[in-house]
Amino acid sequence: MGAEVPALIACLAISLCFNIGFIVYLFVKHKTRNSSEYKKVENPDVESFQRPANPQRSPEKEKEPKEPALKSDINEKRSAEQILKPEHGPPVKEVQQRSDRQRLQEPVGRDEFVKCMNLVVQFINEYFDESHKQPVIPEHDVNSTRIHVKEPEKPEEFGEILKDLKEIVVPNICHTHHPRYHAKFAGKSLADIVGSTISAALGHDVNSSPIIDSIERIICKWLSSAMGIPQIKSHLNEPRDPIGTLFYTPRDIYIAVIRHAIEKAEKTNENSPKSEKEKPKFSDYVVYCSDDSQVPLEEACHNTKVRLRKVITYDKESSAMTAANLLKQMVKDKERGLIPLVIIANYGSANVAANDEIWELVKISRKKNIWLHLDATYAGCQWLDTNSRSNVHSLITEVHSVHIVCSSLFPYSGRISVVWSCEKLDVDGNKIHYGEHPIRLWILIRLYGVRSIREAVKRKVILGNAFSERLTHHPEFFEMSHPNEHGIAVFQYNNKNVKDRKEDINKMTSMFHNYLILSSTLKFSLFSYHGKVLIKAVINYGRCNLSIMEESVSTLLNSVEEFEEALKKKKKSVSETPRAEFCELIGGSPNETTDVTQPDDIDEKKKKK
Ligand SMILES: *[C@@H]1O[C@H](CO)[C@@H](O)[C@H](O)[C@H]1NC(C)=O
Ligand SMILES: *[C@@H]1O[C@H](CO)[C@@H](O)[C@H](O)[C@H]1NC(C)=O
Ligand SMILES: *[C@@H]1O[C@H](CO)[C@@H](O)[C@H](O)[C@H]1NC(C)=O
Repeated sequence: MGAEVPALIACLAISLCFNIGFIVYLFVKHKTRNSSEYKKVENPDVESFQRPANPQRSPEKEKEPKEPALKSDINEKRSAEQILKPEHGPPVKEVQQRSDRQRLQEPVGRDEFVKCMNLVVQFINEYFDESHKQPVIPEHDVNSTRIHVKEPEKPEEFGEILKDLKEIVVPNICHTHHPRYHAKFAGKSLADIVGSTISAALGHDVNSSPIIDSIERIICKWLSSAMGIPQIKSHLNEPRDPIGTLFYTPRDIYIAVIRHAIEKAEKTNENSPKSEKEKPKFSDYVVYCSDDSQVPLEEACHNTKVRLRKVITYDKESSAMTAANLLKQMVKDKERGLIPLVIIANYGSANVAANDEIWELVKISRKKNIWLHLDATYAGCQWLDTNSRSNVHSLITEVHSVHIVCSSLFPYSGRISVVWSCEKLDVDGNKIHYGEHPIRLWILIRLYGVRSIREAVKRKVILGNAFSERLTHHPEFFEMSHPNEHGIAVFQYNNKNVKDRKEDINKMTSMFHNYLILSSTLKFSLFSYHGKVLIKAVINYGRCNLSIMEESVSTLLNSVEEFEEALKKKKKSVSETPRAEFCELIGGSPNETTDVTQPDDIDEKKKKK
């Protein structure tokens, strides 16, 4: 034993020396190669003419590494000189590379682009690694006077722009990619940035690029297979294989569904003996939804001139649209001579993530032969995980169309949605893409693989549910409402330790939310629903894990104390109303009344005739 140890040490020492020697050799070799390449770029004119001469030079280059021991000193000196050079020399020389006229034509040319993108990549990596060290919302405005200058007449160096970005822009923005950002889903990931960069470069005309069609189709196929989308009913209630269509805004989905349903309804009318009768006007048709449906649905109904009837659900804490309430509305509408057109059922409604009574709605749809659309904006992505396929998943086969939105839980920040129906749905025969590109999602899915996307989705939902659960342990501070299994926490601030509070719970909730924002600790969103002011929290941070989530909970609990302290001291930050941009609506509807009527379109029809 005693003899083996020194021998081992000796062996290690020798191999270490060897390794170091080899590394030094490689380093020197690398430096020389870099510098010679650099020289080539330095003088492009010369390079292009001297290219034939290169082969003559290469033997020399090969010789150098052959005698590393002898020449290492010289090489070291040389490379040291050359290391210094790039720092001082190139900016001037690179500008000279292209004439002013060339730069006028193309300010960022090929070489500048390489330089810029390298800096951009570095910037993004640093941002993703470091942004969590900043407060989630800017604590105090960094003086931005510096960027208020005259419009630049000449091209600026990208380095200068990047400097302003880092010093002025980044400290002044709310970081959606931040562990304490809980306001809404805004799935950012490096893979998404790769995809969006490429799709930005390709530019596109969705309608004239056949490959886009193929990519859309393949994405729909992938997702329908990954989510186990079963057969779907046709308007005649025959099961058919689901056909996926990509949409670029939620409004377009609803418009397409409504138009499709109108088309089918009109066809049925033609076949019926009542075809002699006057065709129903668009405003005779009614779309039914819960009162926690998406705002774009309202826009779509305005656009298609049909009526939207929101079925009030506020008597139930779960906020689900019930069959009983729906039928009540339908009876009323029948008396008015209106025709039910579509029922929109929610799987994870816009604000409170409620699930409507889908099975009951299916029965109504069957009995009355009404188009049933399943809006799975929030929760549909959960179907990637077979364990998360609830009863609702088995009901897909009973609906006429269903849609999911990739940005809700995917590590994807675009707005693409997928609709499945038994027939392909169209928007005016033309696709509108609002600058989004299916190639971006296609790249993301390939870079991630379904398994990693599934993990990302599961993580958000599990951590969100756990966050919600942690808050239920503090009923003395928070009143939880609208429990759901979609990772969305909804609560009010109600500190029961404080006696004789004069302000009502709504005001306290709003003030508490303001305090969190002004203290830059956490970003939630605030919304009002049936007269209740509520705070909503989701887990959005892509790299979030259990301990990061727990930290948010303890930050929140600490904020309670600080908030009460500040209240006692009547600090300005407490009573101040927050800036409007911090009180966004998340997607729910601001209109709570259901008696939405369309301006009768008789006048419009007369005009057309
Ligand atoms: C911002 O900085 C400029 C100089 O850079 C200074 O003149 C100005 O007073 C500063 N503004 C504030 C609000 O500090
Ligand atoms: C919802 O409310 C807004 C503002 O009050 C109004 O402009 C809009 O027309 C309403 N939407 C519907 C569908 O009634
Ligand atoms: C959570 O992530 C942080 C930062 O990436 C890491 O330091 C920590 O160890 C992780 N915790 C758990 C429980 O995985």
